[in-house]
Amino acid sequence: MQKISIYGAGRVGETSALMLAQKGLCQEVNLYDLRANAAAGAALDIMQSASYFGFDTRVSGGSDAELIRDSDLVIITAGSPRKPGMSRSDVLDVNRAVIDTIVDQVLELAPDALLMLVTNPVDVLTWHAWKRTGWTRNRVFGLGGVLDAARMAYYIGQETGHSSRDIQTMVIGGHGDSMLPLFRFSSIHGINAEIVLDSEARTRVTERTRNGGAEVLNLREDSSAYTAPGAAVVTMVDAICNDRRQILPCVSVLDGEYSEQDTTAGVPVILGRNGIEEVIELPLNETELDGFQASIASIRADL
Ligand code: 2OP
Repeated sequence: MQKISIYGAGRVGETSALMLAQKGLCQEVNLYDLRANAAAGAALDIMQSASYFGFDTRVSGGSDAELIRDSDLVIITAGSPRKPGMSRSDVLDVNRAVIDTIVDQVLELAPDALLMLVTNPVDVLTWHAWKRTGWTRNRVFGLGGVLDAARMAYYIGQETGHSSRDIQTMVIGGHGDSMLPLFRFSSIHGINAEIVLDSEARTRVTERTRNGGAEVLNLREDSSAYTAPGAAVVTMVDAICNDRRQILPCVSVLDGEYSEQDTTAGVPVILGRNGIEEVIELPLNETELDGFQASIASIRADL
């Protein structure tokens, strides 16, 4: 992939730019922010690390919209982050206006791009961005479940002592308090997580996964998480740039899957060079389906 642009030179945007450069997933990474010097300073700081990290990706930063032109992938991290005690939905109105402005600019400057939403509330804003672009749904998707699944894997490791390399997890629904960690579709080196973890351990993992973002925010006080979100961004971009057709939980528009239309939700998708290649329908049992539908209801309430 030639060119990736990131709206927002905050901590998530800067961390994502650094990790993309380190992995050499594209030739150019452009950090766009209305605070031109913040974007330029972040880009320069990353480029000054190039010789030690050994990357040749060109990272630029600024507030000139020309940075966006002909991007292959646009990642939106810009917007107001939540503060301790706030839910992700509490920043919906202010961030929807931000997304409107960005989407209009992308339509003009990068009309053939894929569009990845990170800004919260990501489920609702992914829907909003998709509607505004009028693009096919494969091209507009959000980062939610990939981050939540990483947190679920960490907490399973805390419960079991197993290596993070052996833990594969699945989280569906909204990127919020109603997200649904799925133990039946998670495993520790192929061993079903429902077998490995007893009911009390599954409850603890579910609660800490749901609260994973808020826990970091409350500890830091002045910032949400950005390292794990950056790693999640790069995981999704890697699947796209290398056309891995990897199964990852992403925010996708649903068009009949799980008997849902006209909404977004975090679902397992096949992620490849065209973005969302396919939405996977898991055979959810009654309890899982109830939780998933409740999570979708919370998303629909804000659409
Ligand atoms: C998180 O969960 C910021 O939504 C992001 O940390």
